[in-house]
Amino acid sequence: MWFFGSKGPSGFSSSSTAEEVTQGIDGSALTAIVTGASSGIGEETTRVLALRGVHVVMAVRNVDAGRNDKEAILKEIPGAKIDVMALDLSSMASIRKFASQYQSSNLPLNLLINNAGVVTPFMLSHDGIELHFATNYLGPFLLTDLLLETMKKTARESNIEGRIVNVSSIGHRLTYSEGIRFDKINDESGYYSWYAYGQSKLANILHAKELSRRLKEDGVEITANSLHPGGILTNILRHDHCMNGNPFEFTCIQTLTLESKNTYTFPQSRLLSFDWKIFPQKYSTGILVFTNCCEIH
Ligand SMILES: NC(=O)c1ccc[n+]([C@@H]2O[C@H](COP(=O)([O-])OP(=O)(O)OC[C@H]3O[C@@H](n4cnc5c(N)ncnc54)[C@H](OP(=O)(O)O)[C@@H]3O)[C@@H](O)[C@H]2O)c1
Repeated sequence: MWFFGSKGPSGFSSSSTAEEVTQGIDGSALTAIVTGASSGIGEETTRVLALRGVHVVMAVRNVDAGRNDKEAILKEIPGAKIDVMALDLSSMASIRKFASQYQSSNLPLNLLINNAGVVTPFMLSHDGIELHFATNYLGPFLLTDLLLETMKKTARESNIEGRIVNVSSIGHRLTYSEGIRFDKINDESGYYSWYAYGQSKLANILHAKELSRRLKEDGVEITANSLHPGGILTNILRHDHCMNGNPFEFTCIQTLTLESKNTYTFPQSRLLSFDWKIFPQKYSTGILVFTNCCEIH
């Protein structure tokens, strides 16, 4: 248990910024994909990776928004290496197209940051799957699987350990009583959007955990971690009831977010999803969820 503002074993705390955490890291030999890079945590992740010299591929469903963000970053960091590619994680066809285009580009891949996520009322994806489960879990799972050979090749040839980061959430603790309702994923009866979000985020963690175990077993130089970035005021609640004028729920959420000591205003926090890269040394357990830059389980 780490107290607000106190430093964990990493030497960083909940108030550390992404720039502070990456200070002194030369990422110029690295190539990263950041999903959901045109908003919130993904946008800041992209900016700071680019600041450290990483070649970042912004994988976004709104390509115009991605291009605008790229231009803004280039104004701040004129030498930034950034590409924008279309990716809709709620569509398996889009994911396959993205992966195939990425492979055709012959770019290496050191870091895959599965950041994109939604909080939404009940909806089905393009493939007829409940939208949280499709976007937050199945999409990143498929994307990771399709890009894994490229990552393995990069790790082998560059001799640099690859990283896969699933941006999960403390919300993984708030889920259905069964945990993941495998036999009722698309069932609208008994559906509650925060539980559906929670089960998708729990699946993110299990994915990273099992993937990491398999990679280690196979002797592959890639680590998969999952993390909770902290509570940050981004666009994540845009589809929630509070945005549809339900004043009671809005008040509840405000109380939860603004008064929680682990909550940060955006961009004041300057974002905490950088937990993964504060370990330039080999970090072999790979089965981690971080909050406030600390390992919690
Ligand atoms: N903010 C928090 O307090 C908090 C706490 C815990 C965990 N998280 C997690 O952090 C991650 C980033 O969230 P955020 O807070 O930065 O929210 P955000 O500002 O809403 O960003 C989410 C990003 O995901 C993208 N996205 C959504 N659906 C997509 C799809 N089908 N295909 C591709 N991209 C898609 C969005 O694209 P569009 O802009 O096109 O919609 C957006 O760029 C999420 O996984 C979230 O669950 C956030």
